[in-house]
Amino acid sequence: MTGGAGFIGGNFVLRTLATRPDAEITVIDKFTYAANPAALDSVGDRVELVKADVADAGVVDELVGKTDLVVHFAADTHNDNSLSDPAPFVHSNLIGTYTLLEAVRRHGVRFHHISTDEVYGDLELDDPARFTETTPYNPSSPYSATKAGSDMLVRAWVRSFGVAATISNCSNNYGPYQHVEKFIPRQITNVLSGVRPRLYGDGRNVRDWIHVDDHNDAVWTIIDRGQIGETYLIGADGEVDNRTVVETVLDLLGQPANAFDFVTERPGHDRRYAIDSTRLRTELGWSPQYVDFRSGLAATIDWYRANPGWWEASKVAAEARYAATEQVL
Ligand code: DAU
Repeated sequence: MTGGAGFIGGNFVLRTLATRPDAEITVIDKFTYAANPAALDSVGDRVELVKADVADAGVVDELVGKTDLVVHFAADTHNDNSLSDPAPFVHSNLIGTYTLLEAVRRHGVRFHHISTDEVYGDLELDDPARFTETTPYNPSSPYSATKAGSDMLVRAWVRSFGVAATISNCSNNYGPYQHVEKFIPRQITNVLSGVRPRLYGDGRNVRDWIHVDDHNDAVWTIIDRGQIGETYLIGADGEVDNRTVVETVLDLLGQPANAFDFVTERPGHDRRYAIDSTRLRTELGWSPQYVDFRSGLAATIDWYRANPGWWEASKVAAEARYAATEQVL
């Protein structure tokens, strides 16, 4: 697998070891600022870690030749960073995916591509529609444009070269080991550090939250039972607006509901994401286990409170990046 030292990929490693006793995993990961190698500290000898770039064709070819399945999580993923410097996103998400596709084509290896609901653009707050597998692509940011391009590469390699691939597009994940630049861990660790949470724009933007373990169980469901060449949307009916998320974090940490600040809006900020995961549920029989967002969030807060050593250093670096462009309004 690729990206096993990242948030979703790292949780995928832990979940796979726990639920699939026969699985052996080779992780290829660049170990960038976003990596959390501590998550993999105690994985033992069923996991081999290889520090390399997924765009390095030599390393990729050798490793793909020794495996029977590639699950591709590796990506540059943070929208705000893609606005300040799109170059790594083009490299990792497009050239990286292309490099992997060429290797699985050469070796005839099954491929699963992890992608995002952001490829579909955004929805209005009052639009009853949700994204489905047939929604036209309409990405807004450099990040989502590179993910859209990577999905298109996978589709083309399936059709033109017969690569045995599936794609999943998932909504916003939360849970343990998520980098503190992302919305939920940023606000949790702000409050834990005595800093007020920060909302972009009017705080009414909606994201469709799913626990990372539910995402990863869906990925295995698609690998086990999905149809080659098909796309499946993963979502847990978790639409919540950002202000409500912040107010819930504040409430769970014993702070007043209004103890947050509005800050500079994100350029091109997508208004709302919403996933219709009917296909995954009815055709493949998946359903989420974390259906109560407040209790999932409470467990996530407990994890960050119990693991300050895991996030404190990256918090300083992430807040320094934000400080370059962000102003309290
Ligand atoms: O929808 C799936 C996507 O979810 C993934 O493809 C991306 O990799 C992942 O980063 C996430 O994208 P978002 O841009 O939705 O996530 P982020 O955590 O950056 O922001 C969530 C929402 O919260 C968004 O409306 C922006 C807002 N926000 C974010 C931060 C960091 C704030 O209001 N304040 C903040 O400090």
